[in-house]
Amino acid sequence: MGETPQIQTSAMAADITIRRYQEDDKETVKEIFTMGMSEHIPSSFMHLLKQPLTQMILMVTFCALLASSKSVLLPVVGVTLLLAGAKQLVGYLFNSYIDTCLRKDLDHIQETYLENKDSCFWVAESDGRVVATVACLPAEREPGCMELKRLSVRHTHRGMGIAKALSRTVADFSRERGFPAVVLYTSVVQTDAQRLYENVGYTRVREFVIPEPIAKITNFTVIEYRL
Ligand SMILES: CC(C)(COP(=O)(O)OP(=O)(O)OC[C@H]1O[C@@H](n2cnc3c(N)ncnc32)[C@H](O)[C@@H]1OP(=O)(O)O)[C@@H](O)C(=O)NCCC(=O)NCCS
Repeated sequence: MGETPQIQTSAMAADITIRRYQEDDKETVKEIFTMGMSEHIPSSFMHLLKQPLTQMILMVTFCALLASSKSVLLPVVGVTLLLAGAKQLVGYLFNSYIDTCLRKDLDHIQETYLENKDSCFWVAESDGRVVATVACLPAEREPGCMELKRLSVRHTHRGMGIAKALSRTVADFSRERGFPAVVLYTSVVQTDAQRLYENVGYTRVREFVIPEPIAKITNFTVIEYRL
């Protein structure tokens, strides 16, 4: 297993370095991932509100309560409760996804990413503090390709070119290991990530709804990118 040297690219602020993950980084890495994912809860809720089915349910509920109570108060309370329930549901689904990712690989970064020559996990450090993460490993769904995963940058360090540099780190590693392509999956609500991937040369390959009933109902699509 080769040591990945520290990398400092001209596109990034001078005090930022990229290095391989060490076990001491575990809790910070999990926190950066959790915060990066949690911030998509409000935009996912907005996405849900934009769906025709959601709007129809809210409208039907409002009209039915208005017709049965002959007062505006009950429909307003009813729709408000429905909205609050929907927000809770979106939060619950995101938290479940985060828990799954933690259990699947982020609780075992060393075993999952660093014991095989074709996978790796990196962190970006600023003033000795971990501020961003990225990983890659051979893609399960696309045999022969590398998959970029777990890209997340602390809010305080966004817009400094760190994600761009981490994407480049994965691309260089994949090329060195002889992988002809890198794939990754992001969601319809992760618009900053979509802009980043398109900016660094990834092509949008397809967009699909994950086969979960709730994803189908809410039209929550996943986008596959390829470099
Ligand atoms: C997506 C994310 C990783 C970008 O990190 P970043 O370090 O701020 O990105 P960079 O500074 O390297 O920006 C690179 C490019 O991405 C695009 N970009 C990133 N953030 C953007 C924003 N808020 N608005 C518009 N474009 C943006 C731009 O094209 C930018 O290039 P430019 O500065 O030359 O225009 C970061 O927003 C993040 O961690 N989000 C939460 C977690 C997440 O969604 N991860 C993706 C998992 S698939």
